Amino acid sequence: MKVLKTIEELQEVRKNTKGSVGFVPTMGALHDGHISLIKKARSENDTVFVSIFVNPTQFLPGEDLEAYPRKEQADIKICEMCKADYLFMPQADTMYSPEEVLVKAPNKSYILEGKTRPGHFDGVLQVVLKLFGLTQPTNAYFGKKDAQQLSLIQQMVKNFFLPINIVPCDIVRENDGLAKSSRNVYLSTTQRKDALLISKSLYKAASLAAKKEKDVKVIKDKMLEVMQGLDVEYVAFVDREFNEIKQIQLGNTIILVVARFDKTRLLDNIWI
Ligand code: PAJ
Repeated sequence: MKVLKTIEELQEVRKNTKGSVGFVPTMGALHDGHISLIKKARSENDTVFVSIFVNPTQFLPGEDLEAYPRKEQADIKICEMCKADYLFMPQADTMYSPEEVLVKAPNKSYILEGKTRPGHFDGVLQVVLKLFGLTQPTNAYFGKKDAQQLSLIQQMVKNFFLPINIVPCDIVRENDGLAKSSRNVYLSTTQRKDALLISKSLYKAASLAAKKEKDVKVIKDKMLEVMQGLDVEYVAFVDREFNEIKQIQLGNTIILVVARFDKTRLLDNIWI
């Protein structure tokens, strides 16, 4: 595996790459969730590019940009182990110039995650568009864990007619159900235990839906019962396009939860 740091190196490599290209963009501190994306990319493409870039434009003032876990050496080893061909690790000034053409996410980026983090998705789309331009992937891999991000990226690809296939990947969890996240390291032992109630509430919702409960209000109340004592920021029910729904539509529903543990926000969701 080759580590690339500059735009020139990456463009030179890409120019000489033949066959299908799989791309996995990340912010590093790689865990099993990221690994599953890289392995899937490896199994479906001739060449695999991974990027690690803690993108400043998607962090709001006061968020954890500085504190975001950085594990460069361990991450390089993990990408090697997953048999990626190229790992792109640029510096912030490599990716951005002082004045930029901006990408503006649509209105649905200002609900749910975007309500708490207004402008966050503008930064995500901006960096992903740059990374797509650089790697020109055939297939790009994104986790369902960040469901709103995934949906907005699918819309960007459609709106800008980008010839890229977006591959949604299942959420990888700890054995006890907690969704893997680079931010889980911020949790204290007690918080880590309490955090389990998030996935528990989602499983409860799925089991109610399986028993033909369709009323979102009823399911939401039961979920909040399971998460009693947690600082729940939102429980939301949307279809695959992220329109809010009042009735469960089996095969077209995403149930999302965000709960806070001090400054750490944990996201989880289930697709039913
Ligand atoms: P990051 O949080 O590092 O996540 C990189 C990719 O891994 C995303 O597609 C995310 O959905 C996926 N992922 C994270 N945890 C997962 C889990 N438990 N199971 C499955 N997939 C998981 O998302 C970003 O970085 C950034 O916003 C980025 C797209 C790289 C743009 O900067």
